[in-house]
Amino acid sequence: MKKRVYSGIRATGRLHLGNYLGAVKGMLALQDTHDCIFSVVDLHTITVPYDPSALQNSIRDVILDYLAAGLDPKKCKLEIQSKVPQHVELAYLLSTIYPVSRLEDLPTYKEKKAQYPKYVNMGLLYYPVLMAADILLYKAEIVPAGADQEPHIEVTREIARKFNTMFSSTSSGQVTFPEPQRFETEGQYVPSLVGIGKMSKSVEGTYINLIDDLDTIRKRLASAPTDSGTSGGELPKEGPIAQLFKLLALFVQKETYTKFEQDYREGKIQYSEMKEVLAQTIYKELEPFRKRRKEFGENPKLVDSIINSSLEQCRQMAEETMAEVREKMGLA
Ligand code: TYM
Repeated sequence: MKKRVYSGIRATGRLHLGNYLGAVKGMLALQDTHDCIFSVVDLHTITVPYDPSALQNSIRDVILDYLAAGLDPKKCKLEIQSKVPQHVELAYLLSTIYPVSRLEDLPTYKEKKAQYPKYVNMGLLYYPVLMAADILLYKAEIVPAGADQEPHIEVTREIARKFNTMFSSTSSGQVTFPEPQRFETEGQYVPSLVGIGKMSKSVEGTYINLIDDLDTIRKRLASAPTDSGTSGGELPKEGPIAQLFKLLALFVQKETYTKFEQDYREGKIQYSEMKEVLAQTIYKELEPFRKRRKEFGENPKLVDSIINSSLEQCRQMAEETMAEVREKMGLA
């Protein structure tokens, strides 16, 4: 039997290079050999301020970006989280076995609390439990996702372990949930363009979208901070220059990287030249993406039928797990 894989992306707009390198590339690497479900996690999207009138479009954008990136509906299932109501049911049941104190300690919760101090809602605290439910609903063993998701996947393992200990002694005696592992890609941490932190949709100036044209990529890279380029010496380990070189390493050939590194060491680097090479390389890598995005965008009926047939299968799989969980928890 093929191992099950699950991952999701929030509907916060068009996918950026961080989503692509940290998550989608992992999805693409697994879809040929594994039993995959890839989701648009709209219920996670609404835990921070959002525009309800734009949400359906944002969901559609992620589906289209998934297809354009090369996820193949013949090889994997595409899901919209809220259309499979079992996610919420399982999340509630799992929340009854997990301590609140552990959730309050998680980095994402603290970050979002700081970012939206007037919007600290229950859903935000509950976020990792819903994410655990997403993964466990399908008994997934592998989760292609960026490094920032590791604490949530650890919570998922803790919940799986606890559930298995508390409720697994019925019928066959087999454990209910596997303990999932994150599937790491080379771009599991794509740096922000502003010099600190990671590339993120919620922080303007930090990201490049997959759909961006060459001029937009150039403009976004142009605003990435640099220095005079004349100091020379070893490359810094952190800060804007380190971040720019990390991004360069993710896209260009080794020789090109080494050339710019050498230029830096010798105090003669031309950042404008380096940014131009990077912009061109990013743009070129995404050429097939842009082409497919246009094709799928012009074929809404095909996209609808892909979503509908996928969702039907997902609901059936989800219901099988729920029947087992309800029975094990004494609810059926
Ligand atoms: P989200 O929507 O913030 O991000 C989607 C995916 O993109 C990855 N990512 C990055 N990877 C590398 N570098 C970056 N700068 C970068 N920015 C984003 C994220 O790690 C993620 O893999 N909680 C999740 C959504 C979720 C989920 C799930 C994921 C809900 N349920 C179940 C996996 C399995 C999130 O907020 O992703």
